[in-house]
Order: sequence, then C-alpha cells, then structure tokens
Amino acid sequence: MASSALICDTQPWKNLKAHVEDIKKTHLRDLLSDTERCNSMMVEFDGIVLDYSRQQATVDTVDKLYNLAEAAHLQEKIHRMFNGERINSTENRSVLHVALRAPRNAVINSDGKNVVPDVWNVLDKIKEFSERVRNGSWVGATGKPLTNVIAIGIGGSFLGPLFVHTALQTDPEASRFAKGRQLQFLANVDPIDVAKNIAGLSPETTLVVVVSKTFTTAETMLNARTLRAWISKELGPSAVAKHMVAVSTNLTLVEKFGIDPNNAFAFWDWVGGRYSVCSAVGVLPLSLQYGFSIVEKFLKGASSIDQHFSSASFEKNIPVLLGLLSVWNVSFLGYPARAILPYSQALEKFAPHIQQVSMESNGKGVSIDGVPLPFETGEIDFGEPGTNGQHSFYQLIHQGRVIPCDFIGVVKSQQPVYLEGEVVNNHDELMSNFFAQPDALAYGKTAEQLQKENVQQHLIPHKTFSGNRPSLCILLSSLDAYRIGQLLAIYEHRVAVQGFIWGINSFDQWGVELGKSLATQVRKQLNASRTKGEPVEGFNFSTTTMLTRYLEESSDVPANPQTLLPRI
Ligand code: F6P
Repeated sequence: MASSALICDTQPWKNLKAHVEDIKKTHLRDLLSDTERCNSMMVEFDGIVLDYSRQQATVDTVDKLYNLAEAAHLQEKIHRMFNGERINSTENRSVLHVALRAPRNAVINSDGKNVVPDVWNVLDKIKEFSERVRNGSWVGATGKPLTNVIAIGIGGSFLGPLFVHTALQTDPEASRFAKGRQLQFLANVDPIDVAKNIAGLSPETTLVVVVSKTFTTAETMLNARTLRAWISKELGPSAVAKHMVAVSTNLTLVEKFGIDPNNAFAFWDWVGGRYSVCSAVGVLPLSLQYGFSIVEKFLKGASSIDQHFSSASFEKNIPVLLGLLSVWNVSFLGYPARAILPYSQALEKFAPHIQQVSMESNGKGVSIDGVPLPFETGEIDFGEPGTNGQHSFYQLIHQGRVIPCDFIGVVKSQQPVYLEGEVVNNHDELMSNFFAQPDALAYGKTAEQLQKENVQQHLIPHKTFSGNRPSLCILLSSLDAYRIGQLLAIYEHRVAVQGFIWGINSFDQWGVELGKSLATQVRKQLNASRTKGEPVEGFNFSTTTMLTRYLEESSDVPANPQTLLPRI
C-alpha cells in the first residue's frame, strides 16, 4: 500500500532547512581557514582521496545530514539493495549490478538464488569468445580475422561502455593489448552515425555486437538491421552468423533476429540499463578490444567500491558522503546543477555517462510510493574535461550561477610528457589548474584586493569574484582499469544514495516512454503518407504543419525503396 510519508516531513529535513540560514552567514574563505574542519572533510579509500572541505557545509551540517540519512533509513536501503530485495518496486525487480563484479566465490541472492555463478558463466563465455576472436581462431565468413568491432546500442547499452573504452584507450597496458584492433559505437538512429561507423571498414573484418537489454529499442534494432544488410550485401546472408553477436536479456528476440543463441551473451532483469556496463553490455565489447584480463581489473575496481559502500561507516564512506552532499546542494541550498570536471582527457566521456546514470535515475516527480513530491529531485549534470571547460563555461561558474563542481584529478598521468626547459611537465601544468580552480571558486576576489592592484575603478565590478562557490575534489592515484572501475562505482552508488534519501525509485525510467509512443504514431503517419499519399491527420496544428512541410520538402524520397547504404 502506498505510504504518504515523505522525507521532507521529518525533523532532520526541517532541521537542515532551518540550518540553511546559518550557512548563508558563512563564506568558504572563512570555512577553509578552519584546519580542523577541513581535516575532518578529507576521506581516503584504496587509492582515492575525497576532499569536500569546499562544500558550503560545517561539521554541524554534516552531522545533520547523517541524521537525515537515518531518517531516510539509508543503511537499511543499502542493505536491501545488496540483499537482492525487489527495491525497484514499479518494475518488481531487484537491483543487483553489484553482483556483476562480485568475486567468483561471493553469494548474492535474488529470489533465494545465488546469481554469482550465472554471472561468472557469462564472464567465462565472454573470456573464451573474445580470446578466440582476438587470436584469430574465430574468423569472418571469408576467413579473415575480425579486427574491428562495432557495438550497436543506445543509452545504458552505449554510454557506460563508451566511457570505459575512452578511458582505457590511452592506458599504456590496455592500449598494448588493443594493438591492431578497433572498437566503435553506433548509437544514434541517424543514418549519419551509420555512415561514420562503416566508413573505411569492410564487413569482412568486422564483428557487430548488438547490445540491447530489451532487444526492442527502435534505434538499436534499426541500426542492427542496417548493419545486417551491410554484411549480407557484401558477404551474403549466411555471413551474418559469423559477423553478428548479441548481448541481451531477451534471448528469444535475439534468435528471432537471426543471431545464433550460442553467440548471445545474457544478462538479467535485475541489471538496470544504465547500471549495466559491468555486465556483458560492457564486458563483451571491452574484452574484444582489450582482452578479458584488463576488463577483470576494471570489475575488481568496481567491486572494491561495492565493498566499501556496503561496509564503511558513513563518515568514511565516499559514495554516501557524495550523495548526502548532493542532496544538501540540491534540496537545501537550491542549486539545480552539478558540473563533472575531470582533469583527464581520458575521462572525456565520463560526464555523458553520469548524465544518464544520474538524470534517468533521479529525475522523478513522485516518491517510490507514488506520492507527488513537494521538492525537486535530481540535478542537471554536465561536464567537460578540464582545462577545456575552463575556456568554455567556467565563466558562468565563476561569476554567474552557482554550480557545485566535482573536480576529478589523477596523480600519475597515463601519458606523461616532459619537455626540456619547461617550468613544469605537461601533466603538472594540467594539475596546476586542477588545484587552482577550486580555490578560485571558493575564495573569489574582492573589490579591495582589486583596488590594491590598482585596477581601474570602472572595471572593478567586472573583475570582482564573489567566491563562496562550492566544489569537491576527487584525487585518483592513477587511471588504470582498476581505478576506472572504482570511479564508475562511486558515482553509481552516489546516485543511489541520493535517491534513497529523497525516497524515490532511482531504478525505473517511466519518463522515457511517452516520447517513444508518440514517435510510433509519427512513424505510422510517415509510412502512410509516403506509401499511400495519406494526408497528415490526428496531430495538433503545429505538428501537422511541420510534418506536412517535412513530407512536402522530401517528396523525392522513394515510397518503396531498394536498400541503399551510406557511401562515404
Ligand atoms: O532510454 C530509455 C532506455 O530504456 C534506457 O534506460 C536504456 O539504457 C536504453 O533505453 C536502451 O535500452 P535497451 O538496452 O533495452 O536497448
């Protein structure tokens, strides 16, 4: 039965609301001069340091957040997740992405059944298959080795694997294992994405991995049919068996599509799409590119954070602290956005992945019991690698809106460069910015300081920085497969913590459905108009006008075309 109890009705929530007034009287300039406070806001675990001293928070704020966590039954909810309870109640599913990276001997139950052996069966199958493809014992229809992989998938079946691939590409160990191989991702249903993916590739040396949890996603299935046509056209329909494999929870539809079920890699309903990078969704394409041993390190990194998240006390628990601070920023200080700023080009696809993990999980309007929420949940996540972002949107962050920032830095560069005669090496130059930006945001620059520097009077307002802009720093000792796994799991769990506190279901995504069903209506109309000349009907004035215009201006599109593939 639906419960109307909301977290905002609890005393700890009200206490935090009242506490905002105290915080408004503080400035980060002063908070940062309290060494004891700052020291208490540094947390370290397994090669990762979190410094949250530049949050607009005192020790008292953090205590109040722990009280909120207690009121939200955070610990209990974390345990329920790890115990395989069906916490995704609107889909009646457990949420067990942690089982995907659990050690072989772990026991994690879903419906009374230990799922870890199933996980490892698939991992073993991926290991075996990827080794065969990589060592050339699995070849294409014409006997050539398959050195190119195109992974077709969208959303969670794309963004996580793309992030990890991009991060591994420049890791010396991983890149050694990837020599002579290429991995690409085809996500957008836009035929331009098909063109970009197949440009310069021959089907003879290409393996296509169709990745879709449901195997019904319109974009993925059309792209899969398109690449099936590309393979068949050149090598004949029987070549599909050698050149296409699948990752899905829906093995029946995989077989219907024409992919041999023996070449399908399963995962399960208890893995949410955006939490699926550690399943075959990510493990298969990444193992094909880098070999299973690298991917295993990545899984171990994620697993290290899983253990930390489930067992560390809240004071030392990095995902819990990050989640609580995000709730503080969104729900109490009223900051609607969060910038994810990795000072590592290898992490350039991290923010796009976290956008889905966070915004698809926590962009909700009702509680888990269906009660409309009188407060906002989720935040607008965006980001770019530093220093590129500095020359783009940081102006707004320094002098415009207040946007809490995550600065992510790495101690040892994947690709160090030293130049004789330079003041610092290239990575130190990058990291100079990593260390400078959080203080620039926190301290700002006052009119008095500018006056002392003899800045012209009329420029003083323009050159003044109010400061007091919150950020936090995450410093990773290196960026190898293990650390990439850790970083992924930290953010996955942080998002879950936020959802647990807000009392929402972070594991469903009903908000993506309406647009999909309206697209079905448009698709039918386009077909009817193109093939039977039927007028546009059943839409509002604006859509009718635009659709009619679109059809009129593309009247040269053939009604019953022969297959045409991109030619670039
Ligand atoms: O965009 C909605 C969504 O359902 C995501 O949650 C999911 O990651 C994506 O589509 C892809 O779904 P599938 O893996 O089933 O193709």
